[in-house]
Amino acid sequence: MTPMPTLLRTHELCKQYRLGEVTVDALRGVNLVVMRGQFVAIMGPSGSGKSTLMHLLGGLDFATSGEITLGEHTLTSLNDDALTLLRRRQIGFVFQFFNLLPTLTAAENVALPLMLDGRDPDAYRAWIDDLLALVGLADRRDHRPHQLSGGEQQRAAVARALVMEPQLVLADEPTGNLDRASGEGILRALRRACDEKQQTIVMVTHDRHAAAFADRVIFFQDGRIMRDLDLSGQAQKRSTQEITAVTTELGF
Ligand SMILES: Nc1ncnc2c1ncn2[C@@H]1O[C@H](COP(=O)(O)OP(=O)(O)O)[C@@H](O)[C@H]1O
Ligand SMILES: [Mg+2]
Repeated sequence: MTPMPTLLRTHELCKQYRLGEVTVDALRGVNLVVMRGQFVAIMGPSGSGKSTLMHLLGGLDFATSGEITLGEHTLTSLNDDALTLLRRRQIGFVFQFFNLLPTLTAAENVALPLMLDGRDPDAYRAWIDDLLALVGLADRRDHRPHQLSGGEQQRAAVARALVMEPQLVLADEPTGNLDRASGEGILRALRRACDEKQQTIVMVTHDRHAAAFADRVIFFQDGRIMRDLDLSGQAQKRSTQEITAVTTELGF
């Protein structure tokens, strides 16, 4: 098998937050290489820098030092306009709290990134319906967020993250507050994005069952990578056991 090409790379990535006199070292030299089509889970205690990493990878915040490359782009040296365009076309986001627009239907929320990119959503109707079906919302396309359960809202957010067919999907605790069935629907949709479209997923999770959907789990502590666990080609149950062993050993 030929090796998969690298999609994402960080080099000595550091992030400090300054609050008055206090400096917080949220990331302390993160070196990470993620291949195209890989599904990576990130685990670690609260405050270990997981969300900070996601914000930097997504170009939502700036590194204090170090470098991030996505494909042929060096994120850490792009200007705001270039970063906005890259973010819109190449990166999909799923956050813990849905962030759907309340006045739009599920289908319109999914279409939003297309509209922001200046495209006619009517031309993408079949694609939007495919995505809604993928996340199990085929019969909810005209519902507004308040008419959807939390799990359904999050599944719409996943469909929205995939609508531009981004190379990279960043998900920060996407199954955090959901029932098991909705969580599994989301994880299966992300898994398919990897397997069928060679999209790359980086997902933060506290849940070892969710992490077991990934090909690889990176364990964070205190702004650093502590362990990098390869799960590729392994059955889910065995993966869950290995994840448990590492979290126990690291004392999470
Ligand atoms: N905007 C911010 N300003 C100041 N400190 C922050 C900010 N965001 C996060 N932090 C701090 O940085 C550290 C890492 O936070 P975070 O990346 O959110 O961790 P995690 O997602 O792993 O829980 C924590 O100590 C947190 O308090
Ligand atoms: Mg977080």
